[in-house]
Amino acid sequence: MEQKLLLSQLGTDTIQGLSSNPKYLLSKYFYDDEGSRIFQDIMNMPEYYLTDCEHEIFSSQKEEIKQAICRGNKLFNLVELGSGDGLKTKILLKYLVEKAINFQYNPIDISAKANHELVQSLKTELPALQVEAKTGDYFRKLKSLNGHAAIPKIILFLGSNIGNFSDEETTDFLSQLAVYSNTGDKVLIGFDLKKSPGIIMDAYNDPHGHTRRFNLNHLVRLNRELNADFDIKKFEQQTTYNPQTGEVKSFLISNTEQTVQLGALEKSFRFAKWEAIFMERSRKYDFQTIEKLALNHGFKVVQNFTDQRNYFVDSLWEKK
Ligand code: AVI
Repeated sequence: MEQKLLLSQLGTDTIQGLSSNPKYLLSKYFYDDEGSRIFQDIMNMPEYYLTDCEHEIFSSQKEEIKQAICRGNKLFNLVELGSGDGLKTKILLKYLVEKAINFQYNPIDISAKANHELVQSLKTELPALQVEAKTGDYFRKLKSLNGHAAIPKIILFLGSNIGNFSDEETTDFLSQLAVYSNTGDKVLIGFDLKKSPGIIMDAYNDPHGHTRRFNLNHLVRLNRELNADFDIKKFEQQTTYNPQTGEVKSFLISNTEQTVQLGALEKSFRFAKWEAIFMERSRKYDFQTIEKLALNHGFKVVQNFTDQRNYFVDSLWEKK
């Protein structure tokens, strides 16, 4: 009897992406342990201005952010989607605790490890903080928080993570955010802004080769987890920026005609010479588009917090 292969989500998504024309892989799979380490290298390089900008916004405008999100001293839940190591959020958390603001912090992350480390560090750094981490799907967890509908929510989605979504995923994400928000709830979303293309290209086509390693590591992951035989020397990384759509796109391009086996899936995929795999989109926005996104999903823009250079905005929206 033929044995059925039990496919993981990574397996299913990889088959779908590599069978498509043009080929693609999903950027959410960049973040295995090594990918997360390389992403730290990206965030630490001077060319990757995004981290510094958002850090600057939180450091220099914490009082303004506090005023915009607190309603008197009424209890609220500060929910963070994809909290990771919570580095920028900690600046705000520390300030709110110092000011004796009445709130609870609910970080939501798909990584149990990231949540555990965040909670442990918060216990030592901010022992007075009320924190309850939730591990799992963002919206399933948000739904469980809605059991306490009487407690207003502020939902954080920082770091330009929204920029990695396609238009369809953005609509889906914001629609769900609207479903799980009550009138008066607020969301604070990090958007990277359009700027001189040279600055953007330096961040995503960096001289240290971190972005290249970050992309190639996806293939290394497929070699390990799906028993594939990608030869990474046979792929070149390329970044493009389209100033009209605001999309940075990253590709891996096969520099030879080749066939790659995915052993665990009993599949093989042919690459023509110079055929590309679309790896990731990092979208840059303008204020008009941000305002339109808010309005289209039942929110209004309350305040935009930008850094001094106007490279990045944390946009505060209120549910109508
Ligand atoms: C996680 N995300 C917001 C990063 C970005 O800027 O799009 C991922 C990244 N890819 C290449 N460099 C950074």
